Amino acid sequence: MTDLSPRRETPAWTRESAAGIARSEETVTPIIYPPTTETDPDYHVWDTWLLRNRDGSVATPGGYRVIFCLSAPAHLLPGKRHDVATIRYFYSRDGETWHRGGVAIEPDEAHGSRQWAGSALLDDDGTLYLYYTAAGFSAEDELTYTQRLACGSGGHVETDGTADPESGEALSLVGPWDHDILLEPDGDRYETEAQSRGMTYTFRDPWFFEDPVSGKTYLLFEANTPVPEGSDRCDGDSAQQEFNGSVGIAESPSGDPTDWQFRDPLVDAVGVNQELERPHFVVDDGTYYLFVSSHVHTFAPGLSGYDALYGFVADDLFGEYEPLNDSGLVLTTPQNAPFQAYSWLVYPHRDELLVTSFVNYVEFDQPSLDDVALLPDSEQLRRFGGTLAPTARLGYEGSETWFRGVLGHGHLPVSGEELPPADFHDRHGHRDSADADSGEY
Ligand code: FRU
Repeated sequence: MTDLSPRRETPAWTRESAAGIARSEETVTPIIYPPTTETDPDYHVWDTWLLRNRDGSVATPGGYRVIFCLSAPAHLLPGKRHDVATIRYFYSRDGETWHRGGVAIEPDEAHGSRQWAGSALLDDDGTLYLYYTAAGFSAEDELTYTQRLACGSGGHVETDGTADPESGEALSLVGPWDHDILLEPDGDRYETEAQSRGMTYTFRDPWFFEDPVSGKTYLLFEANTPVPEGSDRCDGDSAQQEFNGSVGIAESPSGDPTDWQFRDPLVDAVGVNQELERPHFVVDDGTYYLFVSSHVHTFAPGLSGYDALYGFVADDLFGEYEPLNDSGLVLTTPQNAPFQAYSWLVYPHRDELLVTSFVNYVEFDQPSLDDVALLPDSEQLRRFGGTLAPTARLGYEGSETWFRGVLGHGHLPVSGEELPPADFHDRHGHRDSADADSGEY
């Protein structure tokens, strides 16, 4: 494989920066509850992404916007959902009411024993590329945790403006699909499962990205940096070395959305955090905002963080990434509902950023999600949202972001739609709304 770039030192999320993670008025969202109408009452849904055009803008085929979500039958205990995850799609004309489209990636045709998060491209010629993580192997007897980046391509969108969306006929994704494995870790830039010394292993969440500055075509993904036993990373502290999350990137020199070559990781978090999940960009006038989700339990010993959206900023795609807001923390949950949401996805809208996520566990204030398993099954099911969360609004400027308020559950505006005034007006603004609280986060 051609080496596309000389090796360089990977920009790091340092322990020094991450030590500054602390809830604040700029980063904490209000308490949320599941909506009265769920995205899909028959399925838990989590991890959402929008169908986008090659230039990153939200695609609106036939006037509809389309989202993809991981899903699992609603009667299953929520903790079991990752083992059977299937990718479904939903579509909406107004960005508020979502209609069920059905299964986007047929498990029988796809790679993996289940399919995890990805991204979706509607190419200029109308061809769909549905990127996903192949977790395990098709038809395996026992679940394995091997992860590969995969894509179903060749399908297209069919819309019928006159059909009834309730029947599911108004928009459909139509095959046939070719399913390809795009990338497996090389053990050099990106750790293989066999090399992993960490608590969990990651090589997943492919995210298609065309760089608006260079016009080049990339795929981001969540990975780990190889740190062999005996390495002098983290001053040789072996416990810290096991935390080695990275944001990986591959390039398609020809622009072909299925032909990728690894490049060096954009950022890593060796000695800081094990999982930099679902990496994605917002690029604003040559400034690159890189966002990831991560968990309280994946921080290295001696550091504490939250289940939260974290971010970095650089003025070059392969630039020196600085954590946003100094620590990297962008948006998190309140202290008394620390697991109420997860898996944040940011996209630009007018002069602000909109952030969607899913309702995770509400009415649960224990320090670890492991304690969910101590609840009776009925309580586990009752407290798990498994549906789109209220969309958060963020202001941003340079290397700072600040929370501005929320829209409704699953409200995803596109194409310049006007939004109501935000609860928070400016960076250090006061909250106008009645639920302004005591200042405790
Ligand atoms: C984030 C995540 C993703 C993965 C999926 C599996 O919520 O861990 O990285 O693709 O969940 O359910």
